[in-house]
Amino acid sequence: MKVLVIGGGAREHALCRSLSLDPDVTALHCAPGNAGIAEVARLHPVDALDGAAVAALAGELEADLVVIGPEAPLVAGVADAVRAAGIPCFGPSGEAAQLEGSKAFAKDVMAGAGVPTARSYVCTTPAEIDEALDAFGAPYVVKDDGLAAGKGVVVTSDLAEARAHALACERVVIEEYLDGPEVSLFAITDGTTVLPLQPAQDFKRALDGDLGPNTGGMGAYSPLPWADPKLVDEVLETVLQPTVDELRRRGTPFSGLLYAGLAITGRGVRVIEFNARFGDPETQVVLARLRTPLAAVLLGSANGTLDTLPPLAWREDAAVTVVVAAHNYPGTPRSGDPIEGLDEVAAEDGPQAYVLHAGTRREGDAVVSAGGRVLSVTATGSDLAQARERAYKALGRIRLDGSQHRTDIAEKAAEGS
Ligand code: AMP
Ligand code: GLY
Repeated sequence: MKVLVIGGGAREHALCRSLSLDPDVTALHCAPGNAGIAEVARLHPVDALDGAAVAALAGELEADLVVIGPEAPLVAGVADAVRAAGIPCFGPSGEAAQLEGSKAFAKDVMAGAGVPTARSYVCTTPAEIDEALDAFGAPYVVKDDGLAAGKGVVVTSDLAEARAHALACERVVIEEYLDGPEVSLFAITDGTTVLPLQPAQDFKRALDGDLGPNTGGMGAYSPLPWADPKLVDEVLETVLQPTVDELRRRGTPFSGLLYAGLAITGRGVRVIEFNARFGDPETQVVLARLRTPLAAVLLGSANGTLDTLPPLAWREDAAVTVVVAAHNYPGTPRSGDPIEGLDEVAAEDGPQAYVLHAGTRREGDAVVSAGGRVLSVTATGSDLAQARERAYKALGRIRLDGSQHRTDIAEKAAEGS
């Protein structure tokens, strides 16, 4: 099978790594990719948001499957353009991707499907904003309605800060605060059949101890030793399947990856958000644990034949990933700094620990930083403590001036396991 992956982050590197290890995959291409993906796939300089260009490239490459990684091309309808060219595509239509593209749309689908989520108001005027903030009280949860790369959400007990963020958004969702640990649960679906993956936990805040601003995610681990073993079945029944059924019923069937961001509250599981694509950095740990070859599963989603596949198989191993971010992330990051130590990780730590590139590019012989989240170090082990130790040991070999990372990824879960 010839596969073209669209995107160029650590998630796409993880997808390409798994696909490169899949004996079904005979050719692997990525556009635009990054310096790490270039080691396992052929890169093509294409604008990921340009559906016609992506479809044309897939045609030229005679791709049997196109896999769209990030949300922006999905919301822009790139999957529609690929499918219109007669090429199977993993990823939802532009309309169905509104599940991620518009928080108000997601809330409406959840209401229709009876899926438990935070109570919320959609506001467009200062008066509506004040009324909603007053109705819920602190801590305030204020979300920009549109796509914001995980950075459009402010959770604060400071009313002035909540109000300022709300006023800066064109349309804003203000909602009830959900208390409890967060879980990311992904499912691969073809619009009817839903195959849940293993749950993971992401660390959204920039600094140790869950302090600092929200980011796209600073690290993740899987499995979750503290979670109820029935969690996946419960979320499949109360969240994932009803959402997929509701979207089909509305005439906007959703195929691809359905990402449920969940809060495990004292009153039960609640959806914090949906995304329409694999999460980053959770994908790095979930795919590290997936034993089933990936290509046939992604193709089954694209072709509507997931019901014919055998159940997914998982490794017993635990996995931890730690993100290395550039100076000043999640503000405007500094780029162009050389990254050293990558060869040492490959020589000393592989295959139990490896680097997945995000914002990197090659400059002559050097690999330099080219984005906010620069790379993530992923490691597996017999338990979280071992995976964590291996991840941080490998990370210690990497030198990137001004870089930052959290030191407490999976720490509490490893102590409890
Ligand atoms: P989102 O982009 O919707 O995932 O929100 C980013 C982060 O903000 C989430 O991962 C949570 O940590 C936090 N958050 C979002 N909504 C809520 C909520 N209703 N209650 C508490 N925390 C929330
Ligand atoms: N890890 C959060 C996200 O991918 O949105």
